[in-house]
Amino acid sequence: MHRDPCRHFLNRGPLHLLPAISSIVLALLPPAVGLPAKAEWLPPYEYPYSDAPPPSVYQSRRHRVLQHLGPRSLLLVFAADPRLRNGDVYYPYRQSSWLWYLTGVPEPGAVLLLSSQGITVGEQRLRELLFLPDRNPTLERWEGPRMGPTEAERLLQLRALPRSQFDSLLLSVLAETDTLYIVALPTPMMRLPLSGRLLPAEREEKEWLRERSPRVVLRQGFPPLARMRAKKDSAEIRLIRRAIAITANALHQLWRQARPGIGEWELLATLEGAFRNQGADGTAFPTIVASGPNACILHYTSARRRVQENELVLVDCGAEYAGYAADITRTFPISGRFTTEQRAIYEAVLEAQDSALAACRPGLPFWLPHQRALSVLQRRLTELGLLKAPDDIRQYFPHATSHHLGLDVHDVGPTDTLRPGFVIAVEPGLYIPPGSPCDQRWWGIGVRIEDDVLITETGAEVLSATVPRRVEDIESLLSRPIRSPQRR
Ligand code: GLY
Ligand code: MN
Ligand code: MN
Repeated sequence: MHRDPCRHFLNRGPLHLLPAISSIVLALLPPAVGLPAKAEWLPPYEYPYSDAPPPSVYQSRRHRVLQHLGPRSLLLVFAADPRLRNGDVYYPYRQSSWLWYLTGVPEPGAVLLLSSQGITVGEQRLRELLFLPDRNPTLERWEGPRMGPTEAERLLQLRALPRSQFDSLLLSVLAETDTLYIVALPTPMMRLPLSGRLLPAEREEKEWLRERSPRVVLRQGFPPLARMRAKKDSAEIRLIRRAIAITANALHQLWRQARPGIGEWELLATLEGAFRNQGADGTAFPTIVASGPNACILHYTSARRRVQENELVLVDCGAEYAGYAADITRTFPISGRFTTEQRAIYEAVLEAQDSALAACRPGLPFWLPHQRALSVLQRRLTELGLLKAPDDIRQYFPHATSHHLGLDVHDVGPTDTLRPGFVIAVEPGLYIPPGSPCDQRWWGIGVRIEDDVLITETGAEVLSATVPRRVEDIESLLSRPIRSPQRR
């Protein structure tokens, strides 16, 4: 396995990577100054996450998966596909959360194979095996160093083979397999543009399998792995805490800059710049900076409006750090003080959140925090004269209070009972778009307050507790002298 990677310059990576080698610049160069036909230099590879868990953490996760894998079963975990954005430009690559959780491999083109009874490779019987594209000097000259099988073996302490060997090895292993699990297909569905039909990848893959190994049953998803991901281990909690600390600092930077007249985009740029400045990979989801009535649009991301005096700004943001998400929302008055109506709505949401947080305890139903938040909001809005019937609350609170949080911002996990190790978001909100069936003085107010909560053995810890959320704390942090409208 320990080859000199420089001898492999003729190996091409998987075909889907080739378009990523932009033709634009080459097209501008006369042939004589283009790249030499055979690039031989491989840039040195350094693992990009200095703070990632050690290989033993991934190893123990894989071993736990193997304990759940029945006899004659095979589990495949594929890397995410690179996604074309437009022309020949790709979105920044983000690894599949499943593969990241089990290996720490950041590369596209990788496949993890776990086998209950083991597969024969040379003299060895292996229960876990990684496939990775060989290193490719031409590709790496454009896109930077990639982890190849040799680097994976050294850095992740996991047996790895070139991806080019995957197909033949899979076919030979299928002969000894009854059930093949694919945790998630990298592209589960394709919409055909003419007919509008959805082409499910699973059906196509079943067909492929039937032609080669008719006895093998294909299953998508592996519930024990989703349960494992829901209960965060200490390595994950450390990374989530870091993502939250970065996000909290970034919010404080945003507040230092906030004043009437500022563009939503400026606040967004400050936040996202602060994420990167603190070592985050970027954002865990598109940042929401929504001023005035935009706050009533739940996933408003265009950030193209100037904040007007006396308006609220709703900021829902989260850094991604080593793959892990934070998810925090704060709503604040740009001029430093809530108006009477804004304050009434804000305090209703705050009480709903307090009530939901009190229901975050191990053993309680997963949806109890939501039910608690809902009933507070029903009561408060009825008192304020905004609700005619309690069920009308869905008009002003159209989403759930909680979701799992982890590698995905809406992470996988069971939603029956809260258990120690779960990390959940708690995010009640009220949104009163203009034209709502209530007094006009409420129109255009949107408030959400969101915190991230670790369920512990005895209760819960609010991981984002350093970010102020009470009315007096928010007004006090905004009460600096630079609150006058911004001059341009
Ligand atoms: N930012 C997405 C959410 O709060 O669920
Ligand atoms: Mn959020
Ligand atoms: Mn959320």
